[in-house]
Amino acid sequence: MRFILVLTIIVVTILGISIDGCHCKMVQFIFGDSLSDVGNNKYLSKSLAQASLPWYGIDFGKGLPNGRFTNGRTVADIIGDSMGLPRPPAFLDPSITEDIILENGVNYASGGGGILNETGGYFIQRLSLDKQIELFQATQKLVRTKIGKVEAEKFFRGARYVVALGSNDFINNYLMPVYSDSWTYNDQSFVDYLMETLKRQLKLLHRQGARQLMLFGLGPMGCIPLQRVLTTSGNCQVRTNKLALSFNKASNELIEDLSKQLPDASYRFGDAYDVVNDVIENPSKYGFENSDSPCCSFGRIRPALTCIPASTLCKDRSKYVFWDEYHPSDSANEIIAKELIKKFRFTRADQTNAPSPAPVVAPSPNG
Ligand SMILES: *[C@@H]1O[C@H](CO)[C@@H](O)[C@H](O)[C@H]1NC(C)=O
Repeated sequence: MRFILVLTIIVVTILGISIDGCHCKMVQFIFGDSLSDVGNNKYLSKSLAQASLPWYGIDFGKGLPNGRFTNGRTVADIIGDSMGLPRPPAFLDPSITEDIILENGVNYASGGGGILNETGGYFIQRLSLDKQIELFQATQKLVRTKIGKVEAEKFFRGARYVVALGSNDFINNYLMPVYSDSWTYNDQSFVDYLMETLKRQLKLLHRQGARQLMLFGLGPMGCIPLQRVLTTSGNCQVRTNKLALSFNKASNELIEDLSKQLPDASYRFGDAYDVVNDVIENPSKYGFENSDSPCCSFGRIRPALTCIPASTLCKDRSKYVFWDEYHPSDSANEIIAKELIKKFRFTRADQTNAPSPAPVVAPSPNG
C-alpha cells in the first residue's frame, strides 16, 4: 500500500502537474515589461532597453547576463516557483519549439513595453501588450497544429496567466513631455485610457482561453532611483506615486468587474505598493541598508540609463532595494512576490489540481 503511494507520488512528480482531461501540463503565459522580461529584448537587436550586459544576472545561475533586468530572479520567477510551475522561456528565443511550449509555457514580456502601443517609443524596439497578445495568438496556432484543437483548448484553459505592465506607460510615456499622451490627457483621463485599453486586452485574452489570470499592480514608482535623482531634494516624486495608487485602485475595480462579467474567469489583482513603500521608508526593518540609490551605478554620474560593464557594484547586493535606476534587486523582488502571493491567495497548483468549487473572487477592500 505504502509502496503504491510512493510510486504514485514519484509518477506525479515526474509527469509534473497535469490538467484534468488533458495529457498536458499546467504552464504559465507571462505578459509584461522589463520587470518580467527573461530575454525577449536580447533578440530585438535595435532595442535600447537591454539587459544582456554584465552585471545583469550576476546572482542567477552561472552569473551571466540572461535577459533579466535584475541581479537575480524576477517577481514572476519567484511566484511561479512557489506555485510549483516551470519558468517559461522567452518567446523570441530561437530554440523554442511546440514541445518546449507544452512543457514550460511562454514569456512574452519585453523591457520598455507598456499597455499602450505608443509607450516606450524611444527604446525603438519593444513588445507592447497588444503585440504580446498577437504573439500569443501565433503560439496558439502552433499548439493547435501540434496537438489538435480540442486538446489545445484544454491546455490554454488550464494554464495560468500573468499580466504585469503599466509603469512604462507612466515613466516612459505620460510623464515625459516628448510623448503626445503627456499633453493629450490629464492624470485622471490617462488612467481611464489605460483601463479602457487593458479591459479590451483582458477580454481578448479571455476569448483566447485565459481563465486563471493574475494582474500585478504598480509599486511606488515615484521612489525608483531615477525618479528621485530628478528632484532637487532626492525625495520620492509624490505625483508619480499618486498615479501608481490611482492605477492600482482602478485595476482592482476592473478585475472585480471582469470576474463578474466573464464566464469561468478567476481573475485576481494584487499589488505590493504598501509593503514596498514601507521597505523604502524603513529599510533596516527588512534587512536593507540602502533604499534610494542603485546597487549598480557608474561612479557619481546619475542617472545612468542602465547598469553597464564599466559600472561598479555595491558591496552587498542583498542590502540594496534597487539593482539599477529602475529595477528592484532580487532581495526586494522576494518581498514583493511574497506580498503578491498573499494577495492572490493562490495555493500551489499541485494542491488545487482536484476539482475545486467556484473560485472565491472579491478580494477584501484593503487586501
Ligand atoms: C497596436 O498595435 C497592434 C499591432 O501590434 C495593432 O494590431 C493594434 O491595432 C494597435 N492598437 C491600437 C490601439 O492602435
